Amino acid sequence: MTDSPRRIGILTGGGDCPGLNAVIRAVTKDAIYNGIEVIGIEDGFLGLIEERLRPLTYPDVSDILTTGGTILGSSNKANPARFATGTDASGRPIFEDVSPRCLEVAKSAGLEALVVVGGDGTMMCAQPFVAAGLSCIGVPKTIDNDIVGTELSFGFLTASHVATEALDRVHTTADSHGRVLVVEVMGRNAGWIALHSGVAGGADVILLPEIPFDMDAVCEKIARRRARGKRSTVICAAEGARPKDGTQIVRTVDPSSPDPIKLGGIAAFVAAEVEARTDVEARHVVLGHTQRGGSPVPADRVVATMFGDGAIELVKAGKRNRMVAMQAGRLTDIAIEESMGGQRLVALDHPLIAAARSVYTSFGDE
Ligand code: F6P
Repeated sequence: MTDSPRRIGILTGGGDCPGLNAVIRAVTKDAIYNGIEVIGIEDGFLGLIEERLRPLTYPDVSDILTTGGTILGSSNKANPARFATGTDASGRPIFEDVSPRCLEVAKSAGLEALVVVGGDGTMMCAQPFVAAGLSCIGVPKTIDNDIVGTELSFGFLTASHVATEALDRVHTTADSHGRVLVVEVMGRNAGWIALHSGVAGGADVILLPEIPFDMDAVCEKIARRRARGKRSTVICAAEGARPKDGTQIVRTVDPSSPDPIKLGGIAAFVAAEVEARTDVEARHVVLGHTQRGGSPVPADRVVATMFGDGAIELVKAGKRNRMVAMQAGRLTDIAIEESMGGQRLVALDHPLIAAARSVYTSFGDE
């Protein structure tokens, strides 16, 4: 006899990404098959705060493997331990700890465990529940691929695919006009999307948050290419990239969000600098949320299904407060706390950086 829960909740928190529905499907079907009831919580932790829960049945999760978004909805503002309940006289948000109420809601719904599908912010939001004794099973989600303890989060492969397609497309138009084309990709403080799509999309320059760049080096690369008869240069810039003597460019700050800093603007900056420093025309494009929308690529569907099954295996085994993870290409699990609060950045000695340099890709640093 194990003390396997008979009723669990599932929520998707933080920014959405392709593959969320594939995880919801895998968790729900697998749970139902094993006699475990699944209660869907709407809009991440907001659904617990506002008591918006509904049972998930087999038909609810049929035909959603390939669909983007999340049938449960998501919120990247609802941190129960620090929930904005209003504003003070000067318009600043007032925060309250509403986690005791959320625990009550979970208890009265009969939830014996919570499957928490999200990134580091969502895992952090789960902390009060872990501390109060409600087991949380994490499933790592983010296009940024920056969750500590797992080498892969679902959504990343689709985002990299979208970015690669965009890079493929700008090559030809850049060539036609002899321009520099700067493509800005997401990733927050991690350069995984830029590195993978930059290599796959044959970017001539890749700018990563982990390697501060020198505009002189970028312009020298453009000049060297032109001297070799290459009319165009394609630059893949991570939104978190920054010049050696500068800072990251912040698009907006949202104090009510657990992740208040929203980056953006580096591609426009680099394009403007190129035009100011050279006689080459430059254009930029910001891929933004196109990287988060739409159908997951097959590899993400596979990873999402493996993660969903892995989560139910942990539930069935009565394991508590674990997060499924991919390590050395194999499914495993780690303590959920291990994933909280940190960011898995690209290591400077990552083999893909060396491989990119070996095909003369510049990181704007030499
Ligand atoms: O964490 C996922 C992500 O898409 C980041 O790459 C990006 O910086 C951020 O979310 C954008 O957040 P929002 O959707 O709140 O603008």
